[in-house]
Amino acid sequence: PPAPLLDALGRPLRDLRISVTDRCNLRCTYCMPAEVFGPGYAFLPREDLLSFEEIERLARVFVGLGVQKLRITGGEPTLRRDLPELIERLRSIPGVQDLAMTTNGLLLPRFAPELRSAGLDRVTVSLDSLDPAVFGTMNGLGTDPQRVLDGIEAALQAGLRVKVNTVVQRGVNDEHLRALWLALRDRAAVRFIEFMDVGNHNGWNLESVVPSREVLVRLAGEQETFQAVQADYRGEVASRYRDGAGHEVGLISSVTAPFCGDCTRARLSAVGTLYTCLFASGGVDLRAPLRAGASDETLAAQVRGIWAARRDRYSEERGEVTARTPRVEMSHIGG
Ligand code: GTP
Ligand code: 5AD
Ligand code: SF4
Ligand code: SF4
Repeated sequence: PPAPLLDALGRPLRDLRISVTDRCNLRCTYCMPAEVFGPGYAFLPREDLLSFEEIERLARVFVGLGVQKLRITGGEPTLRRDLPELIERLRSIPGVQDLAMTTNGLLLPRFAPELRSAGLDRVTVSLDSLDPAVFGTMNGLGTDPQRVLDGIEAALQAGLRVKVNTVVQRGVNDEHLRALWLALRDRAAVRFIEFMDVGNHNGWNLESVVPSREVLVRLAGEQETFQAVQADYRGEVASRYRDGAGHEVGLISSVTAPFCGDCTRARLSAVGTLYTCLFASGGVDLRAPLRAGASDETLAAQVRGIWAARRDRYSEERGEVTARTPRVEMSHIGG
């Protein structure tokens, strides 16, 4: 493998998260609130999106610079037409050790088998509550959690490994966390995420964050105590804990225990803009040089320069009152 490319804080470039669409079939209040992303909202026109050929080309350049993990995100990636074809292209790149996708799961009953055959290793399904009223409110459209559970089953049937991401908001879905964990822990790796101040529309405030510490207390039953589990790999985002019976839970504490020190992730938007942090206000356009005929070497040199200069560590710098400079939308870089 190529020598690791280090940023200004010594962090290697290891993961590339690729957004393939800014559209979604849900309207989660913390991500794409319906009042903002309504019928009049101007989503990206199709011709602005990178083609599969262009995505593959950029992915090869990134793998050549040391990337080992690829994750497909959105918006909702399964809304992108012919997605399995992209998976096949990415799977064919030597050096890709892990090919995952973040999804809301709704279309997995239709697409999981094809995605698996195309070479997808695993999916991470977002599911915030099993309570239909709570989930219906959080997803903005009244969509029933059973549809997501059906998606999870379809993924497992197809042979995909499954993780579940639950964003926790105080006073919204923090009452039934244990029920969700109990229902899913034997089928999937469940992770609870501290609500973050990403994007520009989610009405974040510190009071609505439930610290992971508190989540763990809520998960513990009468007799249960949790032990911390050794991280699987350097830079693992979730801290994992195990109870006496061996059941695991993951906690993603980007507010109370930021993990910027190990952040090896680059993010590519659906239009080919490269972001070096989830909280960036701007990125670098790679589509223009790509479409102007730049060689792989030229593109690689540009990425190398961007990564070498990277000093982002937003979550570690976040104060109690966050600066309100406009940020990239979550629906453009998929979390
Ligand atoms: P695995 O490869 O399965 O370990 O994936 P992951 O946990 O790195 O990725 P996933 O997309 O499942 O991340 C879960 C959630 O953690 C995301 O949706 C974000 O909310 C949050 N998260 C992931 N990466 C970052 C990051 O770089 N910074 C911050 N602040 N939060 C992140
Ligand atoms: N805070 C934490 N996680 C978020 N996600 C989206 N918005 C936020 C937020 N404000 C998560 C989703 C999904 C992934 C795409 O990012 O739940 O798992
Ligand atoms: Fe869609 Fe995921 Fe955003 Fe919810 S969090 S609106 S499912 S992209
Ligand atoms: Fe990485 Fe930025 Fe998240 Fe820190 S805040 S972990 S630098 S993406």
